[in-house]
This record gives sequence, C-alpha cells and structure tokens, in this order.
Amino acid sequence: MQTKQLKKLYLEFFKEKQHKIINSSSLIPEHDPTVLFTTAGMHPLVPFLMGQPHPQGNRLVDVQKCIRTGDIDAVGDPSHLTFFEMLGNWSLGDYFKKEAIDWSYEFLTKILKFNPDDLSVTVFKGDKDAPKDTESAEKWKSLGIPEERIYYLPKEDNWWGPAGKTGPCGPCTEMFIDTKIKPCSKDCRPGCGCGKYFEVWNDVFMEYNKVAEGQFEKLKQKNVDTGMGLERTAAMLQGKKTVYDIEIFTPIIEKIKELSQIQNPNQEQELSIRIITDHVRASTFILGDNLGITPSNLDQGYILRRFIRRSIRHGKSLGIEKEFLSELAKIVIKLHKEDYKELDRNKDFIITELKKEDEKFRKTLEKGLHKFERMSQNKKISGTEAFLLFQSYGFPLEMTEELAKETNIKVDKEGFEKEFKKHQELSRVGAEKRFKGGLGDHSEETTKLHTATHLLNQALRVVLKKPDIFQRGSNITPERLRFDFNFDRKLEKDELKKVEDWVNGIIKEELEVKREELTVEEAKKRGAQGVFEHKYGDKVFVYTIGGKSIEICGGPHIKNTKELGHFRIKKEQSSAAGVRRIKAVLE
Ligand code: SER
Repeated sequence: MQTKQLKKLYLEFFKEKQHKIINSSSLIPEHDPTVLFTTAGMHPLVPFLMGQPHPQGNRLVDVQKCIRTGDIDAVGDPSHLTFFEMLGNWSLGDYFKKEAIDWSYEFLTKILKFNPDDLSVTVFKGDKDAPKDTESAEKWKSLGIPEERIYYLPKEDNWWGPAGKTGPCGPCTEMFIDTKIKPCSKDCRPGCGCGKYFEVWNDVFMEYNKVAEGQFEKLKQKNVDTGMGLERTAAMLQGKKTVYDIEIFTPIIEKIKELSQIQNPNQEQELSIRIITDHVRASTFILGDNLGITPSNLDQGYILRRFIRRSIRHGKSLGIEKEFLSELAKIVIKLHKEDYKELDRNKDFIITELKKEDEKFRKTLEKGLHKFERMSQNKKISGTEAFLLFQSYGFPLEMTEELAKETNIKVDKEGFEKEFKKHQELSRVGAEKRFKGGLGDHSEETTKLHTATHLLNQALRVVLKKPDIFQRGSNITPERLRFDFNFDRKLEKDELKKVEDWVNGIIKEELEVKREELTVEEAKKRGAQGVFEHKYGDKVFVYTIGGKSIEICGGPHIKNTKELGHFRIKKEQSSAAGVRRIKAVLE
C-alpha cells in the first residue's frame, strides 16, 4: 500500500469515529521559542491539550509534517528520518485509553490487515510520578495480545512529552510490528534499534503537565495524543526492511544514483545516499514552509544550513561535483505538492535558496577539506582549528565532527564552543534570553506581544499602502516580537516612525480586543488576515481590535490595547529575498 492510500484510510477511519480533519501546521512552531521545529502532531495543539477549547471540537485527526533534529545521527538506519509525516488522532478531554487502544487495534488489524500475531506492545511500568499502566495492558490482553508480547517499560521508553521543556505529557503505549529478522541478542525487545521490531504507532495518555524538571501536575482534562509514523508503517505494509525502500523515496534515490553513476553502492555509499535523501526532503520542506526559513548560522536557519552542507559533502564523496540539490528538490516538490500546496507556491524560492547555498559552500568546500586533512595529521582537531573550519570554510561543527569520526580522530568540542562564544558573545546573550520563554508561554509579556504583532501587521499595510502585505513568520519571546513580512525593499526611517506612531495611536485609543468563533468563509468575508489555509467549513478563532485589525489566530491576546504601554521598533532588516524582518518591543 502506498503512502497516499495509507493517509486516506487513516483520515477516513477517524472521520468515521467523529474526528474532524485538520490541516498540517507549519514546521516552524509559532510563538514557541524553546523548540526549533514541530516535532509531533500534538505540538501545535498544546494550548488545546492544556484546556483551551479547539474551534473544531474535541476529536481531531491530521497528517502533520515534522522534523526531529535529535535523530540526525540515526539517519540512514532502517527507521530514522529527520523529516517525516505523522498521522495522528486526538481526544481533547473526550475519549481515553479504552477507545484509543480499541481503534488502534482495529485500524492496524482490520483496515491495514497486519497479522495480530506480529504485533507487540509496550506499556508504562510505573514510577514515583505515575502508576503502572495496568488499564492499557488489560485492554491489550482483552484484544488477544498475549502477556509475553506486552512489555512493561520505564519512562525512558514509555512516557511521551512534553514537546518543549514544560507542558502536556503522559504515559504511552507503543505498537511494534515484528519484521521476522533474527533478534540481535537475547535481550532484543521492542524499542531495540536493530530493526527487528518496527515501531509504528504511539498512543499517549496525556493527563499530566510537566511544570518543571521532575514536577508533574494533573491536567484539567484527560487527553489522548496518538502518532503513527507514515513512512515506517508504509515500509511494513510494503514488505520493506527500511523506510528508505518505500515508494516516496525511490525517485530521489534513483536520481542520486544516476548523478553519481553508482548503481550498486557499497555500505558507505548507501549511507551517503540515504543521508542526502533525508536531508533534501527536510530542506525542501523547511524552505517551502509558509513561514519559510533561509540558511544562516542561527536557529532553524543553522539546521537548514547543516542539512544542505552535509548533503553537498556526501554528494561530493559520491563523486557529484556540481550543484544537484535543486534537481532533487524538484522531485520532492513533485511528490508532495498535492498534499502540501506551499511547496509548489514557494518552488522558486526553494530552488534559488538551494542554489545560493551550494554556490556559497562549494567555493570553500574543497579548500576546507584539504585544510581538514592537514589538521588531522596531528590525530586531533583543536577548538581553534574547528572554529577556523567553521569561520573561514563554512564547516558546521557537526560536519567537522562527522569527518573526524570517519578518520577516527577527536574534535575538541569544548574548545570550539569557547572560541565560538568569544566571537559570539552578543548572540549568546540573545539565545539565553530566548530560552527563558517556555513552551506555550502565555505569560503577560508574550500575550501583549502577540497583540502588538497583530497591530504591527496592520500598521505595515496601512503605512506602506500595500494591502497584500502578510505575515511570513513570527517569533515571540518575553522580551521582544519578531515579525517577517513580504516586502521588497528597506523601509525608510520615516516609514518606520509612521508604523510606530500608528500602533501607539491604537494603544492610546484604548480599543477592545475581541475573540469570535467564525467559519473560515465568514472570517474571509470580513477581511480577516490569516497565515494558514483552512478547509471549507472549518471554524476558527478570529481576533478583532476595535475594527482596525482582524486576524485568524489561536491567541492568546490581551483584552484592551491600553495594556500595551509603548511600542518601539528596534530593528528592520532583510530576512530573505522579498522578505523583511522587524524586531520590536513594548516599553
Ligand atoms: N506525541 C507522540 C509521538 O510523537 C504521539 O503523537 O510519538
């Protein structure tokens, strides 16, 4: 069964069970400075798992694009990818363990027709924070899973979340398909990475809120958060041993083989091919996101840069000496544009940015590799050397480490960090500040800045007399807002002043901020701004600020503009081709 069909069956199955189909959110978490990318389907739903009512109701289902940078070193093994699609269904304080497990079992065995004898499950063993999950175990037994295929595991394995530092989380029960290969040892069990047991689905019972390290409170409501890895499940359905063998990877892999003229890769070459395949998908989706990011040395931009540069380096080791990622990106776009329209819309941007980054890096790659070779004669790379490779040759530290690993030498990472900090004192201070805001940080400061962001968005349209200006990105910390928008030149001083004055004028007018629940059509009719695409009939929250600004938004917002104080723009700069960035504060 192909991935397209799997997605369709999943959405239909849960729709039948009264779930509303919602759209995939952006890969860049909005208003969550503690995590760089959306790592799971539940991530954009955090406020609703915490108790805020969702406009679509309390049963949801979707396919969410995700990136897990933590898995970057595992890329290439049978089951790990950085970019993947997650099928998920949620109960927001509605059904709980019994229904979730029943439906998981029904979908796996009746719809996908997996043999129940090949299914193993894990459940939470219990500890000081939460009891042993006997309810889930009993449920599995009642469905016919024998005791010997039910594994009780600790928090490391059977507790999921929070996605950031704090937030909703809970014990989980995971489902594995036995691939029938020989166990790697007598201790081999679900959760072992050897490839015998393939994890396909995770049902998380989110009834806890992690408030600080080691501190859990009960949430207002009991939620279910499930996540099924699309590529992994498809691999099992297609009788493949790795995710890289499924149909959506084949055209990319074939193209790499063609470009490198390697038809029968050895193990090392196979790994390079898989790394490029994974990273080009991730890069295409990051660049193609509605809140698109460009390669840089900061945050998401740095991860994107690592993906691209690592791919170029692995391409070179396969003998590909010319720019090739844009060719592969075109294949990725073609494969996914139907489900992710933004990829097609941002196609030129994706291609241009990939080519630009290639040009930048290829200039120094050859020289950098020679430099590395010379350095490695001392059998180690010092911090200063690693920093030189970073600063002068554009080698991300992780690339130097990867090269060193291949030649069996060590890199002084701490030395690098010291060197880096010396040069980046300012950005370090910035990073610390950024990490102060927690996941789903709804502090007074960030709430105010959310409202200020709406006003800024409107002020730009008014002052620049361009009604088609819209949000390309937003990031809020307790200290400042950052707003990206489409505009193709620098703003003049007097324009910035006018924008500030407009916002401060609204603050002085003491206007009410009102929340309403409307259908997308009603919202559009009333001229609401909105970054995300919604389906016909979807209900959304719309915030209006005294008839001056109207936006589709999840909130939260303050009640009256008078709470905002004084708005000041700190910086205006370019963010990407045709995109400007403003940083502003409230004083
Ligand atoms: N959040 C859980 C996971 O990512 C289930 O969706 O595995």
